[in-house]
Amino acid sequence: MSAIVIYDSQFGNTEQIAKAIGKGFGEDTKLVKVGEAKAEDIAPYHFVIIGSPTQGGRQTTAVKAFLEKIPAEALKEKRLAAFDTRFKNVFTKVFGYAAPRIEAAIKEKGGNTTAQPQGFFVKSSKGPLLDGELERATNWAKSVAAGVPTGRMQSEVQFKKKE
Ligand SMILES: Cc1cc2nc3c(=O)[nH]c(=O)nc-3n(C[C@H](O)[C@H](O)[C@H](O)COP(=O)(O)O)c2cc1C
Repeated sequence: MSAIVIYDSQFGNTEQIAKAIGKGFGEDTKLVKVGEAKAEDIAPYHFVIIGSPTQGGRQTTAVKAFLEKIPAEALKEKRLAAFDTRFKNVFTKVFGYAAPRIEAAIKEKGGNTTAQPQGFFVKSSKGPLLDGELERATNWAKSVAAGVPTGRMQSEVQFKKKE
C-alpha cells in the first residue's frame, strides 16, 4: 500500500528517521520535507506519516502550519501516524513531545491515527541518533504498514486538544 512521509528536520536526524520509515513501508514510499509539501500531496496515498523534531516540547511551526492547511475531509480515508525525534531524558518529559501533538492535531480534524505516536532518540540537539534508532524506525513502519498495534511510549501523555 502506498505511503507518504512528510517531515521537518533542522539538523538532519528526523530526515534520517523519515528515510528509515520509508524503507519500512517499501521502496515506493514518497518522502517530502514539509516546506515543500502541499496539502493536496497526500491525496493519492493510503498511509500518511507525519514527523517533526521536538522543539520546546512540540512540533516545528512548519509542521503545525502544514497540518492546519490540510482540509479535514482529506484525512477521513487515510491511515495516519505521527513520529518525532527527541531527547531521552526525564527533564524534557514535562514539556511533552511533537508526535502526540501532531496526533492531537490530526484527531481534532477528525482524522484517525492507526498507530501510537512514536519518538526516536537523539544524543544532543544536533544528533546523532542513538544506536539502533534507524532500525527501530524501519521496524515501527513495518508494524504500522501491517496494522500491528505499536503501543504508546511510556513517557507520553496524550493531548486532547491541539496546543
Ligand atoms: C530549539 C530547540 C528546542 C528543543 N527542545 C526540545 C524539547 O523540548 N524536548 C526534546 O526532547 N528535545 C528538544 N530538542 C532536541 C531536538 O529534539 C533535536 O534537536 C532534534 O531531535 C534533532 O532533529 P533534527 O536533526 O531533525 O532537527 C530541541 C532542539 C532545539 C534546537
